[in-house]
Amino acid sequence: MKIIEVLSYEEMSTKAANFIIQQINQDPSSVLGLATGETTLGLYKKLVQDHYLNNTSYQNIRTLNLDEYVGLAENDPQSYRTYMNNQLFNHVDLPIQQTHLPDGMAKNLVEECLRYDELIYNIGGADIQLLGIGQNGHIGFNEPGTSFQSNTHVVELMDSTRKANARYFSSINDVPTHAITMGIQSIFNSKKILLLASGHKKANAIERLLNGKVNEDLPVSILKNHEDITLIADREALSLTKKNDGIYSTY
Ligand code: PGA
Repeated sequence: MKIIEVLSYEEMSTKAANFIIQQINQDPSSVLGLATGETTLGLYKKLVQDHYLNNTSYQNIRTLNLDEYVGLAENDPQSYRTYMNNQLFNHVDLPIQQTHLPDGMAKNLVEECLRYDELIYNIGGADIQLLGIGQNGHIGFNEPGTSFQSNTHVVELMDSTRKANARYFSSINDVPTHAITMGIQSIFNSKKILLLASGHKKANAIERLLNGKVNEDLPVSILKNHEDITLIADREALSLTKKNDGIYSTY
């Protein structure tokens, strides 16, 4: 695992944006695996700025998002489709039919999971998968205990995850109880992984990732077995991680 330590959220966002832009420049028909949440907001802002300043083109890019809430319509202000449209898709030259998220309003959720897996398979998986990390070590909505072999599935969100996301809703009761998430296997199959972490709230999960073993109790830990993973983390997120002469211990 390559670890890039940065001073701030801003620096993390800039470095992550450069990483994605480099991928697009190398292969303008890349498949980008995208994530939602607070961590990635700054990065999307920088991608949009870059698109205006440098004309980086998304014309041939295809995107696969990690997850979507069950029961929220596409145009619901809190849906991840709305987040992606507002933060990135509406501001770059990416044809909307080349963007993909699971459909949280599908009548048959089992069929929807199969459809999404088939789509991931047909598209050839992500060339680069962007990931945040949950305070409990989740990736996508793969909560602790999820099988490393999992494909797209419906999950019941843990109380801690619903609480962490309640800030976007009027009350915790409005936070959906379920979501559809890409499975850990599909995430792992991405050619490159870009994992981002910012702030004290992520320090415990990052410490467990870097110093602990690969274990289904910490979904993100599987990424230690990935051959092309970069973690960009700020000092606060790395604050509980032991460091010897710039080398992070034991991972
Ligand atoms: P956050 O979420 O970016 O809002 O902290 C990350 C995650 O839960 O995966």
